[in-house]
Amino acid sequence: MKTTISVIKADVGSIAGHGLAHPALLAKCEEILGKAKEEGLLEDFYVTNCGDDTELIMTHRQGEENEEIHGLAFNAFTEATAIAKELKLYGAGQDLLSDTFSGNIRGMGPGAAEMEFKERPSDPVVIFCCDKTEPGAFNMPIFKMFADPFTTAGLVIDPSLHNGFEFEIFDVMEHRKVKMSCPEEMYDALALLGSISRYVIKRVTRKDDGEIAASISTERLNLLAGQYVGKDDPVAIVRSQSGFPAAGEVVEPFAFPHLVGGWMRGSHNGPLMPVAQKNAYPVRFDGPPRVMALGFQIADCKLVGPADMFDDPAYDRSRELASEVAEYMRRHGPFEPHRLPADEMEYTSLPGVMEKLEGRFEDID
Ligand code: F6R
Ligand code: MG
Ligand code: MG
Repeated sequence: MKTTISVIKADVGSIAGHGLAHPALLAKCEEILGKAKEEGLLEDFYVTNCGDDTELIMTHRQGEENEEIHGLAFNAFTEATAIAKELKLYGAGQDLLSDTFSGNIRGMGPGAAEMEFKERPSDPVVIFCCDKTEPGAFNMPIFKMFADPFTTAGLVIDPSLHNGFEFEIFDVMEHRKVKMSCPEEMYDALALLGSISRYVIKRVTRKDDGEIAASISTERLNLLAGQYVGKDDPVAIVRSQSGFPAAGEVVEPFAFPHLVGGWMRGSHNGPLMPVAQKNAYPVRFDGPPRVMALGFQIADCKLVGPADMFDDPAYDRSRELASEVAEYMRRHGPFEPHRLPADEMEYTSLPGVMEKLEGRFEDID
């Protein structure tokens, strides 16, 4: 019998401004998922939040892309939205693009990462949740986990990892995908993955046996809706140990707070700061972008945990570095590379300026 983990998330309202999901929303989601567990649809669940995003971490036997599971998440977010509206929370229901569910949550606003596997004798997984960034924020850390021997020592010294991993890469602009094998195609893969706003890693599988290793949400809300309606703050599920990177190798890449898009108004680059769940509350200039990591053991489709993995003094220096980089980037104000290039911004005021100035431009002799 196989186990499925579904992590489905949405921003359906927060305090104050785009800050923190209100506890009443999490409580409502817990109530609804609790009922689904009693009825046997879910085996287990854990509800949390990363900044203004509410995350539903669910285990079940229904497989990926299951209509009932997606419908359950949609219903939980819809009910939470009703409370958000009552409390006049900020951005109430912002990530729900429709009020009627049509079979699959993809394309309806929320983000989803899912994976199905046969449980090993012991199966540790790490769930990463981000706020104020975009799915491509995972490109560098996921690449490092599964392809960089300076991060994952196991790629060099553990025979069960030595043959490497295959990356499924989505081109989110053209809606197409490609599979690339590492280490053989590493340089070609990096040529794509460096463009974090266009190419995003969707899945990673182990080459030896095709076993699923990682799954990342890749929804781009801004493209889905055809206009800015919110951020696509991503989530990821990563399996670890015994043939996968060790838990410590899985979290190691986040010690470097790399620059990602999505800070203030979805229009600025900033460092991705690794934080404990209690600090997943982006305040300064609505940021800087955050990532949290919850570790679970999966036992007969139940979630044992979580361990709050970035609640570790060993990440203090990464946070300090992130604060320093945040300060440095902030000093650029409206200048690139702090502000994103015009075509990647989620706000379209720049084209407005261009229209206004159109008649005033003259050719340079
Ligand atoms: C939203 C976000 C915020 C908002 C900003 C302006 O997730 O990242 O930085 O973009 O607070 O929000 P509005 O336009 O709703 O006033
Ligand atoms: Mg919001
Ligand atoms: Mg958010």
